Amino acid sequence: MDLKSTPIDTPLAGTYRPPGDKSVSHRLAMLTGLARGQSSIRGFLDSEDTLNTARAMVALGATIDWTRGDHGWDLEVHGGDLHPPEGPLDFGNSGTGYRLMMGVLSALGGEAGWAGASIRLIGDRSLSCRPMARVIDPLSAQGAVIESSDGHAPVTVMPQRLRAKRHVLNLASAQVKSALLLAGLSAKGTTTVEEPAPSRDHTERLLPAFGVEVIRHGPTQVSVEGGQALRAGHHEVPGDISSAAFVMAAGLLVPGARLEITQVGLNPTRDGFLTICRAMGATYQATIDRRVGDEPVGRVDVQGGSLVGATIAPEWVPLAIDEFPIIMGLAAAASGTTTLSQAEELRVKESDRLAQMCSQLERLGVNVIERPDGAVIQGGEIDGGEVDCGGDHRIAMTFAVLGLVAKAPIVIRNAHWMQTSYPGFVEDMNALGARLEWLA
Ligand code: S3P
Repeated sequence: MDLKSTPIDTPLAGTYRPPGDKSVSHRLAMLTGLARGQSSIRGFLDSEDTLNTARAMVALGATIDWTRGDHGWDLEVHGGDLHPPEGPLDFGNSGTGYRLMMGVLSALGGEAGWAGASIRLIGDRSLSCRPMARVIDPLSAQGAVIESSDGHAPVTVMPQRLRAKRHVLNLASAQVKSALLLAGLSAKGTTTVEEPAPSRDHTERLLPAFGVEVIRHGPTQVSVEGGQALRAGHHEVPGDISSAAFVMAAGLLVPGARLEITQVGLNPTRDGFLTICRAMGATYQATIDRRVGDEPVGRVDVQGGSLVGATIAPEWVPLAIDEFPIIMGLAAAASGTTTLSQAEELRVKESDRLAQMCSQLERLGVNVIERPDGAVIQGGEIDGGEVDCGGDHRIAMTFAVLGLVAKAPIVIRNAHWMQTSYPGFVEDMNALGARLEWLA
């Protein structure tokens, strides 16, 4: 389905609460499914990606009762007693569900009923192009047996008893780190993961709430001891800063806009977007006002005004890794030049985000130079026109935001991909004064 975003002449205004955090929802679905007994999750994200993970847990033997909550889903999960699934587990578009599950399953060989099992993990076309060796190789070094099609999905996991290991990663990746920590829970001994730079730390923050001791040696090194049983409990999901980023960006771009973003996760390993906006001259105030589990949550008040281009420091990249489509969009609307480097990881996300963003911005008359590891964007006016999101939810939402301030409407082809992470995006934006309209 195509979406039309029309420039607005009345500023956006109002209060907005983002949907539940995708990373936390995936992890909670897995951890409550693994923990023996009755757990609950409030505010579970209603999106294709997270529903696929929950369905996978059901295929593995967890029972889930679903109720529509005030915000997203409220889940009652009966976990433990898992068994190999009858068919393949389908993760659709979700790299997080897929990679974390490889970690979980590869290590279950010592559990009753799992020895000799063979579990196939599948995904959509985009997921099947994304690199999986980054998880398969370190797990194999612990004794995992995972067959793949040359390091890509579909993979077949044959659960084993894993040995613990100290891993030194050459990439800051929360998905890889989390897959190894989750496998480490079932390995014999201490599993340690060291990264070159901090990545999001939701797994480390969640595990203690399941009764698991996590040893953090600093921002880039973490260990877990194998053989710790997970304890059932009650959990809540903070608002997703990565979904809120689109709304904040709209608030920053539309002159005179004033938005209050509430209940948003402000974990310091996820707030690179705010740092980058600040460097681009944005006016906002972020305040932490409570904790949801071990996650800081608060509000961000944003004000529309003019942005300027910036040089994005490489250390900000992992802390804003999902926000680069919208950051590149902001750069296109800012005055001056924005330079992004050491961001080659963006080429292996739901799409090649550097190529897709550069080519589609160019279609709207933006002056862009694509580089192997980033881009140089000359900001200014954005023409109306037609773009394709390349099957990427975050690129679809980025162009929907840019349409509000372009010279003429922007039509986003195949914008239904936003269902991957944020099915309510159009309604939420329109409630704040945007003009987004699905075309038949
Ligand atoms: C995620 C980690 C990030 C991010 C993804 C979610 C997670 O990937 O891009 O959307 O939940 O762990 P990498 O850790 O591979 O960079």
